[in-house]
Amino acid sequence: MDGLTTPPRHIESGLRPATHLRDEHEQLERLLSQLSEYTDSCDAGRLQETWSKLENCLSSHLQTEEQQLLPSFLASNPDEVRSILTEHRRIRELVAELGVAVDLHTARKDAVLRLVRLLREHAPAEDRSLYGWLRQGR
Ligand SMILES: [Fe+2]
Ligand SMILES: [Fe+2]
Repeated sequence: MDGLTTPPRHIESGLRPATHLRDEHEQLERLLSQLSEYTDSCDAGRLQETWSKLENCLSSHLQTEEQQLLPSFLASNPDEVRSILTEHRRIRELVAELGVAVDLHTARKDAVLRLVRLLREHAPAEDRSLYGWLRQGR
């Protein structure tokens, strides 16, 4: 996909970008709550299903930010972009670790809660920086 000629997914959908991305943060939060619940209940089928939804949603969200927004944000906010990319890398590392655990039926609640904490720290910081910039119309 060519980021220069193809409109970002959220623009194609006709939604305001910052609003759409915040909605995705809320959707991710709901999926993490469900995941945490299913980790406790030992319901392997629901845990796997919820994990797949979370993984897809999160992967697509991070990719949209990195491919369609951060390149433009970089010129005026290099430190913020570095910080966001570092957090994305930590999130992906934990997602990869948890994905293996879910497949092996060894997912533990403390690992899920680490991901919850990581995303809860990441979301408001990003909302202030990257999404704030988007709301200003770039
Ligand atoms: Fe992000
Ligand atoms: Fe985000």
